[in-house]
Amino acid sequence: MDFLIDIPTLKNITYIISSVLFITGIKMLGKESTAVKGNFLSAVAMFIAVGITCIGLINPLVLFSGIFLGAIIGTFIALKVKMTSIPEMVALFNGFGGLATFLIAWSEFNNGPDSLFQAALVMLTLAIGGITFTGSLIAYGKLSEKINIAKTSIITKIFTTIFYISLAFLLYSIFITPFLLPNFEFFIVLLILVLLGGIGFVLPIGGGDMPVVISLLNSFSGIAAAFAGLLLFNNVLIVAGSLVGASGLILTVIMAKAMNRSISNILFVGYASSSSSSSSSEEQGEINPISVSDAYLILENASSVLIVPGYGMAVAQAQHTVRELGELLEENGTEVKYGIHPVAGRMPGHMNVLLAEANVSYDVLAEPDDVNPTMDVVDVAVVIGANDVVNPSATDEPGSPIYGMPIIEVHNARTVFVLKRSMSSGFAGVQNPLFFKSNTRMLFGDAKESISGLVSEFKD
Ligand code: TAP
Repeated sequence: MDFLIDIPTLKNITYIISSVLFITGIKMLGKESTAVKGNFLSAVAMFIAVGITCIGLINPLVLFSGIFLGAIIGTFIALKVKMTSIPEMVALFNGFGGLATFLIAWSEFNNGPDSLFQAALVMLTLAIGGITFTGSLIAYGKLSEKINIAKTSIITKIFTTIFYISLAFLLYSIFITPFLLPNFEFFIVLLILVLLGGIGFVLPIGGGDMPVVISLLNSFSGIAAAFAGLLLFNNVLIVAGSLVGASGLILTVIMAKAMNRSISNILFVGYASSSSSSSSSEEQGEINPISVSDAYLILENASSVLIVPGYGMAVAQAQHTVRELGELLEENGTEVKYGIHPVAGRMPGHMNVLLAEANVSYDVLAEPDDVNPTMDVVDVAVVIGANDVVNPSATDEPGSPIYGMPIIEVHNARTVFVLKRSMSSGFAGVQNPLFFKSNTRMLFGDAKESISGLVSEFKD
């Protein structure tokens, strides 16, 4: 019996349907109310795309086994991972995306590229995939604080040099391709160089610049996938890869803007300029601790309160208690706003996600540019587990590694409460002069416990 359409046509039609679903799903992710459905739609699109790819293959069993194994491992990890470790998991996802395309490029080289264009594409895919893979592993290590190699150490310098050599070698390999197809030995040298180069790409970047490098790696994983799609003549891989590549690139630009830095400055200059930090981890004066009951008395009389959440709120899982406190303050006649810094937490939109989960309305969330001009009329700024994003060194101390990063200027509020467990520094590893200012009160303890204490006081 003849089918109405042949399998390649059926595949391409299904790929178009999947691509439309991907784009619709991503669009829906932009709104809190449609985000869950958007995520589901994109997952369905991926399922359809993978499913149709398997049809007509000579040995689909191998592919199904891979999908089955991957699905089990993915489900297990996603169920087990803690909310605060999601950014590390995202870094690993990027890395494995890079590894997959790296392996595709390797296998295409073994099959023998049938044109000069394809040979150049193999080199490019291999390089971007390889750099993304090892770079993401280092990013994972840095985010989970398992890797802490100084920017100025000899190891970092060696790997950074290898990174530049790998770029030069890649350019050379693409340049010579039209005249001489690369042989196996040449290919292996490139392969080793890009894997080591990926380490050198991320190793020197640290502190406040990590968000930019994470979104750049995300973009790289998409670009590598799009190139792999070109290699395999797979349309849906080209579309999905391009979507990830483009959105990752947009995010990178947004993140760099949030840090008030250019991307090239972060990748090539920032490292050198920030290594001469004069910012010390030494004590910088007297601190003024405050108890929950005294903090309550001040909050009860405040007419405006700005809540500034940071990574510590995610660690303490305090978002629901924070929303409760916000509601109690409003019932008491206080105007409540939330100051959200674009790089607060450990992943783009981290605070927005947590507060949305706790049903805090988007209307009360404000960006630094919106809250800073009126900070002097804020009665109390309540800093919940945030540190780097409220560090005045970013504006006052030219030698600081975070110098130039826009912050939420809570130090200009009438009173500041800082909720954290100790005097330890934040992600960038620098001391925060805010803690020693005369208008700052330190409310020590786990953020959730401190906020719960305040909530109880209000209820009593
Ligand atoms: P951080 O500067 O990292 O400070 C978080 C603070 O939370 C710490 O000082 C910690 O102090 C406190 N904390 C931890 N657990 C707590 C708990 N259970 N209760 C109360 N406090 C707790 O956070 P931030 O201000 O949000 O800044 C984010 C930093 O991460 C920036 O440097 C940013 O560049 C970087 N980064 C961001 C991203 C993205 S995309 N957002 C990605 C990678 C890196 P104690 O230990 O004393 O409690």
